[in-house]
Amino acid sequence: MSEHTPVLLDEVLAGLAIRPGGRYCDATFGRGGHAAAILGAVGPEGRVVAVDRDPEAIRAGRRRFAGESRLTLVQGSFGPLEERIRAAGMTGGLDGVLMDLGVSSPQLDEAARGFSFMQDGPLDMRMDNEAGQSAAQWLAKAGEREIADVLHGLGEERYARRIARAIVAARAETQLTRTGQLADIVAAAVPTREPGKHPATRSFQAIRMHVNRELEQVAEALPQAAGLLVAGGRLCVISFHSLEDRLVKRFIQREERGDPVYAGLPVVPPHARPRLRRVNGAVRASEREVAANPRARSAVLRVAERIAA
Ligand SMILES: C[S@@+](CC[C@H](N)C(=O)[O-])C[C@H]1O[C@@H](n2cnc3c(N)ncnc32)[C@H](O)[C@@H]1O
Repeated sequence: MSEHTPVLLDEVLAGLAIRPGGRYCDATFGRGGHAAAILGAVGPEGRVVAVDRDPEAIRAGRRRFAGESRLTLVQGSFGPLEERIRAAGMTGGLDGVLMDLGVSSPQLDEAARGFSFMQDGPLDMRMDNEAGQSAAQWLAKAGEREIADVLHGLGEERYARRIARAIVAARAETQLTRTGQLADIVAAAVPTREPGKHPATRSFQAIRMHVNRELEQVAEALPQAAGLLVAGGRLCVISFHSLEDRLVKRFIQREERGDPVYAGLPVVPPHARPRLRRVNGAVRASEREVAANPRARSAVLRVAERIAA
């Protein structure tokens, strides 16, 4: 069975500045690597609510943490974060929120989940494979222009138009149901090769991000996370994609400044005041960590602290 090695573990623990007896949310539970470390640091009175939209992650978590009364596991997306926290019975503010974005190793490694261009499987790519539209369903209906926009916008794929054209031509001939089929169509449409990179890497990443509404989910959750924190509480976000990291960085910048409409005015209403203070800029994995876990290469951690209202 595939495992998931948590990235930037020490840096996340330092970023969260864990308080014994504190209350934390791990919004991206995965296989529970970070959650286990948080539980290890919060002591007997601490509590962790862990969220994951992947039913398999939650099932594996229930097995791994059976009998762990300090942990509440919630299956669902973190977009409605406040609702998830409320549903878990956690009231009164959080000392920290962690978001370790993207997909887990077990999701990527299991061909049946349909994320992989390396192994053939059903063309699915949903993190929650029990809800929503699969990659195959989206690709069966989307217009050529829409497909090209997704490949270009989310995958920074310079051959987006050619690939979209090839997909639309292929689906007129046969149903696209397998990751292997899609990988072959993309590879044939891309005229050049990047060293060490499969030609379908960018397209698969873009389609995955689109199918799972990954950027939208992060944009929805960040303000809620800031609102849930108590003064001094920490927000830690690990991104693996430049667009995601940019979103996090800009969010923290905005929350540091407060609403510019009220800049310079003597009275600033509570909703327009700064809520966060940047604790550090982009933190990256050490060479040693990247050598041991190549997935850490693109990881960027940003940490911010909730300031008193
Ligand atoms: C990189 S892994 C997290 C690994 C985890 N920190 C660990 O140590 O095992 C990302 C996880 O977040 C989940 N995920 C990603 N986006 C999500 C969202 N919008 N809502 C809920 N879960 C999400 C994925 O299903 C995946 O299991």
